Amino acid sequence: MRRSLRSLVVATAAAALVLPLWGATAANAEPPGYSHADKDTLRNQAPRDLAIGSAVWGKRDLVDYDRSAPTEYQQVLSAQFSSLTPENDMKWDAVHPAPDVYDFSSADALVAFAKANHQQVRGHTLLWHSQNPAWVTAASQTWTCDQARAVLEDHIRTVVGHFKGEIYEWDVANEIFQDTWDNGGVRLRTEANPFLKACAADPIALLEDAFRWAHEADPEAVLFLNDYNAEGINEKTDAYYALAQRMLADGVPLGGFGAQGHLSLLYGFDTSIQANFERFAALGLQVAVTEADVRIPLQAGETGPTPEQVAVQAERYDAMLEACLNVTACSSFTVWGFPDANSWVPDVFPGEGWATILEDDYSPKPAFDAMLESLREATPGTSPRHG
Ligand code: G3I
Repeated sequence: MRRSLRSLVVATAAAALVLPLWGATAANAEPPGYSHADKDTLRNQAPRDLAIGSAVWGKRDLVDYDRSAPTEYQQVLSAQFSSLTPENDMKWDAVHPAPDVYDFSSADALVAFAKANHQQVRGHTLLWHSQNPAWVTAASQTWTCDQARAVLEDHIRTVVGHFKGEIYEWDVANEIFQDTWDNGGVRLRTEANPFLKACAADPIALLEDAFRWAHEADPEAVLFLNDYNAEGINEKTDAYYALAQRMLADGVPLGGFGAQGHLSLLYGFDTSIQANFERFAALGLQVAVTEADVRIPLQAGETGPTPEQVAVQAERYDAMLEACLNVTACSSFTVWGFPDANSWVPDVFPGEGWATILEDDYSPKPAFDAMLESLREATPGTSPRHG
């Protein structure tokens, strides 16, 4: 049964306040039989040690934030999620637009929103081949490894230092391995990533120092490797597993492994995600689902997905969440934004969409309901996490 999310939107769990944000009219509009349960939100139903997050683009979604008059989007964001990931606001092109210029304006606004709503922030990201500013792309053509190291070190120390104490998990290195089908075989992106390219003779030394610089700048933040196609046990996650072992043996302050969770109904779902998480957890690392969405191929002329597609989408979101719930070391589960109008998917995958857990009017999809139900069942005391 479709129901409005409005009845679920309440003040924050952390504040232990129960303040319906809509008046009697909205509540009365609920379908018969639906019990208005103010604590029935993703964040409130999550086990206490599991952060439930969403990506948010502060520059787009939070610029008009007025604490006394939040938009409907902002109300849902604060009511449902205990963690925020800046979808773009902490990337290189946003915070470091020129060699000597750091701009934290939209990232600071995001952190302020999170604080006001008792949310944690996942930092994203410090070393990536994409969304680097033009000056990095240009300068990197002639970088020596020492020059690349100096630029990266300054960036990491400055950015992580700026947010010291505000970020609980940092995606230090994002998508540093290529997929098997990219030029045959999993290997480090020593071509596309300008920093790894400049230090291609020993890219792991640079990578390890990136984690050390981040740790020195904020010893409390848990430092993650993060990638897509990294849910199940496969050639790529085997490469990450070997890398994690090496980094830990080298004394690098690696703290977590993140599977982004960008799935598509065009492909199957690898059910080995829990086993994959367990092997990283056995190394002493935290694990996380960091960017979950499940995109659906949509037929031209159709207004939406089929009921079967909707059901499979719900199963896949829930399977990723269940894997996280079943592994004690899973510290956060983040969806990559909502609603569909905000999703990156249609821009990048023409013909696919409907990837998020909320409709454009913020009403919940079956995927949302499935996740909420799994979180309810995992309430402390009943979940294997707490067993
Ligand atoms: O920079 C301009 C900005 O100045 C302008 O205001 C805006 C107007 O639309 O465009 C901006 O560029 C956008 C950029 O994000 C912001 O830096 C691009 O159009 C937009 O396509 C770009 O997309 C982001 C994408 O990363 C870039 O690779 C998506 O929003 C973001 O969801 C996506 O996120 C990545 C994760 O970081 C890593 N994992 C995969 C995931 C999905 O691609």
